[in-house]
Amino acid sequence: MRASGRLPASGLVALLALGTAACSESSGPDTFGLMEGQGIYAAECASCHGTKLEGQADWQTRRPDGRLPAPPHDASGHTWHHPTEQLFAIVKFGMVPPNAPEGYVSDMPAYAGKLSDRQIHNVLAWIESQWPAEVRQRRAERLRKP
Ligand code: HEC
Repeated sequence: MRASGRLPASGLVALLALGTAACSESSGPDTFGLMEGQGIYAAECASCHGTKLEGQADWQTRRPDGRLPAPPHDASGHTWHHPTEQLFAIVKFGMVPPNAPEGYVSDMPAYAGKLSDRQIHNVLAWIESQWPAEVRQRRAERLRKP
């Protein structure tokens, strides 16, 4: 990604704007949290989930070894269907019960011991901050249902 070399400057401005918007809502993530989340995503997640959250090709088709490719975290995927607590558990503990069947084998690493709870919250907050307003709205409605 050629543009990503220049991301820090423009990304910072975007994040500052975002942080201001988030602060005007009561419980939005803070600017520095989002910046940290963006950095963690680039360092830890982008290699599989894509620099633009696009995931890996044919992500819904299991490979010959039985494993699934990494799904997108953008609007085309299903990450936004799930509550943040569930996403948190997947990032911290990996694909284990109750989020996957016992003995399920996956390329998704468990980040417990590598990322702190705060870092996991921040990387998820950054991913969520990338979803278009419409997707966030649909998500809120979906998760409000009992
Ligand atoms: C080595 C590749 C790899 C890396 C690195 C990786 N993931 Fe994953 N991730 C996967 C795969 C593959 C799955 C799908 C797991 C399955 O269903 O078998 C997945 C699934 C997920 C899911 C659940 C799927 C969904 O859409 O709800 C979340 C959330 C997630 N990853 C977040 C992250 C975050 C955040 C990072 C960085 C901190 C990360 N992943 C790093 C490969 C990876």
